[in-house]
Amino acid sequence: MSITSFIGGQPSARPKITTQTILEKKRRHELITCLTAYDYATSRLVDEAGIDMILVGDSLAQVVLGYDSTLPVTTEEMLHHTRAVRRAVKSALVIADMPFGSYQGDEAEGVRNAVRFLKDGGAEAVKIEGGAKRADLVSRILDAEVPVMGHIGLTPQSLHKMGGYKVQGKDLAGVEQLIKDAVALDRAGVFSIVLEGVPREVAAMITQEVSAPTIGIGAGPDCDGQVLVFHDLVNLSFAPPAKFVRRYGDAAGLIANAVHQFKADVESGSYPSDEESYHLPKNTRLELEAILNRKHL
Ligand code: KIV
Repeated sequence: MSITSFIGGQPSARPKITTQTILEKKRRHELITCLTAYDYATSRLVDEAGIDMILVGDSLAQVVLGYDSTLPVTTEEMLHHTRAVRRAVKSALVIADMPFGSYQGDEAEGVRNAVRFLKDGGAEAVKIEGGAKRADLVSRILDAEVPVMGHIGLTPQSLHKMGGYKVQGKDLAGVEQLIKDAVALDRAGVFSIVLEGVPREVAAMITQEVSAPTIGIGAGPDCDGQVLVFHDLVNLSFAPPAKFVRRYGDAAGLIANAVHQFKADVESGSYPSDEESYHLPKNTRLELEAILNRKHL
């Protein structure tokens, strides 16, 4: 067995990103990139573009499955999509989002579910929402050899408790809570922390305070990296963009245009053309013509 097959197959053009690479990037002050992805095709494109981390986010519930919040998506559905992403990705670190209900109750069940995302889903880390109150669970998941990404601020799984999707940490008590949450997760040993929907100033303070890289979404430019939902990036999410979303493409426009053109071409008879058709081999055609001619005699 060669050393490359021993450590994981064909050597790829880009080195494999690990949780250690992500920690190292913060130490070197190199900004970290992360996008969500949920299927083979988009994961391949995201990976081949050189993005550091792919998050199989529970935003899957909304942007892929059409639910109006992240709450209904199940562990089985998340695993199904994590496996598709795993098959596509060679270099990026693959993180699976643990869905609502898979860790909020019994901690032992949370640990078992986290292990499933590595064992059955092929992920390399999991993400869980919540700060200080999740620190013990984070330690237990880490004890099971599963790296953990934290997620604080606007945590969509707490939608009903927060009373809506609201920027967090806008008053002093909120700021203090966010800092406590970040420090607790950092001490518990997360390899990164998503800061979602928090004021820029607070994100900057947390980023200074903790050794884990902070990955911002609606948290301003002072984080150690940024994450966006893929469908927001390319205009496929059918929702008015949040303030922090920058659209980098118009996939909806591109797809709608292609579908309209296909419809028009089929209806006008211009698709498919002769060049787009298969033909009989010459011998078979001649034999067939001979049979048909005999029949007409
Ligand atoms: O599910 C998701 O897409 C996320 C990101 C917004 C961080 O949790």
